[in-house]
Amino acid sequence: MTNQTAHSPANSARDLDDRQIKDRIVADLDRARARTRGLTDVLDDADLVRQHSRLMSPLVWDLAHIGNQEELWLLRDVGGKDPILPETVDQLYDAFQHPRADRPALPLLDPVQSRCYVVDVRSKVLDLLDRTALRGRRLTEQGFVFGMIAQHEQQHAETMLATHQLRQGEAVLDASPPPAPDVATRPAEVLIPGGPFTMGTSAHPWALDNERPAHLVQVPSFRIDAYPVTNGAYQDFIADGGYDDRRWWHPAGWHHRQEVGLTAPLFWRRDGSDWFRRRFGRLEPVPANEPVMHVCWYEADAYARWAGQRLPTEREWEKAARHDPVSGRARLYPWGEQDPTPELANLGQRYLQPAPIGAYPQGISALGVHQLIGDVWEWTSSDFTPYPGFAAWPYKEYSEVFFGPDYKVLRGGSFAADRVACRGTFRNWDYPIRRQIFAGFRCARDAAPGEG
Ligand code: AVJ
Ligand code: FE
Repeated sequence: MTNQTAHSPANSARDLDDRQIKDRIVADLDRARARTRGLTDVLDDADLVRQHSRLMSPLVWDLAHIGNQEELWLLRDVGGKDPILPETVDQLYDAFQHPRADRPALPLLDPVQSRCYVVDVRSKVLDLLDRTALRGRRLTEQGFVFGMIAQHEQQHAETMLATHQLRQGEAVLDASPPPAPDVATRPAEVLIPGGPFTMGTSAHPWALDNERPAHLVQVPSFRIDAYPVTNGAYQDFIADGGYDDRRWWHPAGWHHRQEVGLTAPLFWRRDGSDWFRRRFGRLEPVPANEPVMHVCWYEADAYARWAGQRLPTEREWEKAARHDPVSGRARLYPWGEQDPTPELANLGQRYLQPAPIGAYPQGISALGVHQLIGDVWEWTSSDFTPYPGFAAWPYKEYSEVFFGPDYKVLRGGSFAADRVACRGTFRNWDYPIRRQIFAGFRCARDAAPGEG
């Protein structure tokens, strides 16, 4: 620390706080970069520039886009610096100027240039962080924009992992198996009592604009599955002819199912009566007790109707995850305020798959619902809409341009999401036809009259 005021006794308490925030920022940025490197260093240049699916960018685009966002927000906006590269480079990495399918044809930085660029940006950012006060300016208040950039890199790390899953060819990623389930008896559903609940947050310093502000909602009593729907249960839906029975499907979902010929989750194949799946380049039996994954919203919606249930609304999901009936307050995570650890939730690409249901007894919510954080993103029935009092911050293109009926909300984060970009208030969204994301679901239903 070269700043004189840092050593003034009058400021010591404040500086201590800033130091802790800065240590956290450095750790979060480092962890994000280790993951980005892990996902890009394992592939040769041809694999990095290739488009593995029209739904995804070439990985070399994600890599330089991560650096470019970091440069734009931190070095140029916060730091007032000049561009590192010719300014024509910015538009190549602007997600709104080029749809993913068009990105391979752009004159992108090559893998060596991209790696040098992100390293250069990062070293300048660490320098800037050291010299930046984290009080008094909204963008940097409590480190917000640095946290936003760590979250951004981790969101792309999840997207890059989805690209790996779509990639054909020999396996290049490895991880140990997730923890085994606890053997305690399992409640199927949990009753969530009706009444008010505080949704969203105004307090979390790194919450993104769409999570804000905190607001009171009335949620009538309902029942929610204690666990995500498993592969085994989903196989029963398939075996019962669920894909061929129009009664279970949303009209647009039925149309889509007919048009593209949906018959099972993405990456599944049948061999006689056995189901197999391809996971990061390896074929393996589908584990019956793991949350189902790679289903679109329409498949989740059809399964729920077949099961005599429905998808939870976004507010129901968040109440099940955050509401503490003893204090009447909303927790940040199902288990409380403590940061996620490996004992609490399956996050951070530690295992390259969801864990069996019942594997995280320590991570249950106050109301007794399991595995809300980590494992799989969970589709909700809700469209992605702004909370009352929403204000776009710090840019409209993060959330605001996506609000409306085209996108469905997903909650809870997957095994591929990092803890910096996952909490009880965090909102994700995608088109209801998308299946390459690490998404599953759990079901809910209205409580019986007079119940709860
Ligand atoms: C919030 C996951 C939908 O990947 O499109 C990344 C996150 N925004 N760069 C996405 C994001 C800008 C976003 N999602
Ligand atoms: Fe991005």
